[in-house]
Amino acid sequence: MSGKEQVIGVCGAAWGDEGKGKFTDEFAGSSDIVVRAQGGCNAGHTVVFDGKKLKLSNVPSGIANPGTINIIGNGMVLDPQVLIEREMKDLAKVSINCENLLISGDVNLIMPWHRILDRAQEVALGKNKIGTTARGIGPAYMDKIARSGIRLNDLEAPEFFAEKVKKHCEQKEKYVFSVCGATKEQFIEWMKLPDQRGGEWLTADGHFDAEAIIRSYLEWGKILLPRCVDVRVYLREAYKAGKKILLEGAQGLLLDIDHGTFPFVTSSNCCAGGFLTGTGLPPHCIDRIYSVMSAYMTRVGAGPFPTELGTEEEISVESADKRMSYEECKELAKTANDDYTYGKILRHIAGEFGTVTGRPRRTGWFDAVACRLAVTVNGPDIILSKLDILDVMPKLRICTAYRYTGPATRFNGKALNTNDELTEFPTDARILRYCVPARYAEFKGWQEDITNCTCYEDLPELTKAYLKGLEKETGCTIRKVSVGASREKTFFVK
Ligand code: GDP
Ligand code: IMO
Ligand code: MG
Repeated sequence: MSGKEQVIGVCGAAWGDEGKGKFTDEFAGSSDIVVRAQGGCNAGHTVVFDGKKLKLSNVPSGIANPGTINIIGNGMVLDPQVLIEREMKDLAKVSINCENLLISGDVNLIMPWHRILDRAQEVALGKNKIGTTARGIGPAYMDKIARSGIRLNDLEAPEFFAEKVKKHCEQKEKYVFSVCGATKEQFIEWMKLPDQRGGEWLTADGHFDAEAIIRSYLEWGKILLPRCVDVRVYLREAYKAGKKILLEGAQGLLLDIDHGTFPFVTSSNCCAGGFLTGTGLPPHCIDRIYSVMSAYMTRVGAGPFPTELGTEEEISVESADKRMSYEECKELAKTANDDYTYGKILRHIAGEFGTVTGRPRRTGWFDAVACRLAVTVNGPDIILSKLDILDVMPKLRICTAYRYTGPATRFNGKALNTNDELTEFPTDARILRYCVPARYAEFKGWQEDITNCTCYEDLPELTKAYLKGLEKETGCTIRKVSVGASREKTFFVK
C-alpha cells in the first residue's frame, strides 16, 4: 500500500480467480488489518510465498503476514465447519495459528440445509443450472435477505439459536421436497456426503437431526465466539488511530448479483460497493479501489462467455491431474491455430483448474466490453495479473465489440435488433447468451519469458503494446502488473 493511502480495496474485475489473493497477501505486508466483506467458501484465493502455497476460502489472504489482523466481515456467509476443520487445520500445518483472526458477530452462518438446497436447486434447474460451488452460498444469502438467517451472535444464546434451528429444519425439508422437487433418496444421499459429516446430521428415519446440528454449531461457537467483534466499531477506532486497512474482495464484478451476468452470478455484491455494506466502513475512508483483471478471461461454472476459446464438451475431458507441462504448452503454441488449442494452452500453463472444486476453468481472449464494466462500476485503477501466462502465445486478441445474434427485443429501455453491435456490456444472460465477438484488436505475441521483469521498462515492446491496447479499449489505468504467482513477481507501472 502506498505511503499516503490508509484504506484500499482489491476486488475482482471479471468472473473471479483474477489473482485477488496474491495481491491481498502482497499489500497485507504494509497493512495493519485485512477484511473480507462478502462471499464465503465459494472463494478460493491462492497465496504463494517462500515456496509455500495457501488456498484460502473464508480466511482473509493477509493471514500469512504475522503482524496483520484478519477480519471476516458481516457481509460474508461463514461456514464454521470449513473454517475450523479445514482452513484453520491446513494453516496450522504451515505454522499459521490464526491468533490474528477476528469475526463479525453479525456474520450469517452457512447451515447444513443451505448445502442441501444449493444441490436441490441446481438439480431442479436441470440444463439451466448455474454451476454453483455447492457450498450453500445462495441459500444462505436467501435466508439473510429473508431476515431469517442465523448469525454468529445467535450462538451466544443457545436456546434462541436452538429454536431457530428447529424451525429451519422443518421449513427447509418442506422446501427441498415440495419446491425443489428433490426425492427422499437424493436428500439422504446428500446428507451422507463428507461435507454433511457423512450422515451425522441425519436422523434414523431420514430427517434433519436438529439436535445434532445444534450440538455441532454450539461446539464450533466455543472456538469462534471468542474471536467475535463489532467490526464497524473496530474499524472506526482503527481508522481513527491511523491504521492501514485493506479490503479483500471475493469473486468478481461479472459474478456480482446486481452487475454481473444474471442469473449466472453469485449471491453477493462483489463490486466495490460491497466493501461498504460488508464491513460498515463509511465511503469517505476508502482511498483507492483496485480491480484485478487477468490478461485473458476465465470462467468456472455455467453462463455466457462471449470470448470463450473452446466448447464445454472439448474442455470437459480435461482435468488437473492431466495438466500439460510448460514445455509441452510452448511446443503446442508453435502450431496452434484453433480456438480450443489457444484456450487449452492458457488453461494448462496457468493451471486454471478451480481452487475450490478442481473444475477446469473456461478460458478466453481478453474481453474489453466486459472489463469496461469494472471501470464503470469500481473505477479506473487496475492491477493486471497473469501477464506471463501469455509468454508463449503467437498472437493475442482483445474483443472490443459484440454482435447481438438473438431475436429482436428490448433491453434497458431500448430496442435491440438482430445484428446490432454492442459496446456496453449487457448484464443479463437473456441478451449476453446471444452476443458474439464482432470486433477484435489483434496483437502479435511477444514469445519471450517476462517472469524476470521487475519494472515496466523491462517488458518487451510487444507486451507494452498489449497493455496499451487494454487501457485504450477499457478506459482503465493499469497501476500494477504481475508476472508470476509468487508474492514478489509484481511491480507498479504508474
Ligand atoms: P483469486 O480467487 O482471485 O484469489 O485467484 P485464484 O487464486 O483462484 O486463481 C489465480 C491463480 O493464478 C492462482 O493459482 C495464482 O497463484 C495464480 N496467479 C496469480 N497471479 C499470477 C501471475 O501473475 N502469474 C501467474 N503465472 N500466476 C498467477
Ligand atoms: P474467487 O473469490 C470463480 C461462481 C461459481 C458459479 C457462480 C455461483 O476465488 O474468485 P456460488 O457457489 O457462488 O453460488 O456459484 O459463481 N463462483 C466463482 N467463480 N471464482 C470464485 O471465487 C467464485 N465463487 C463463485 O462457479 O458459476
Ligand atoms: Mg479463486
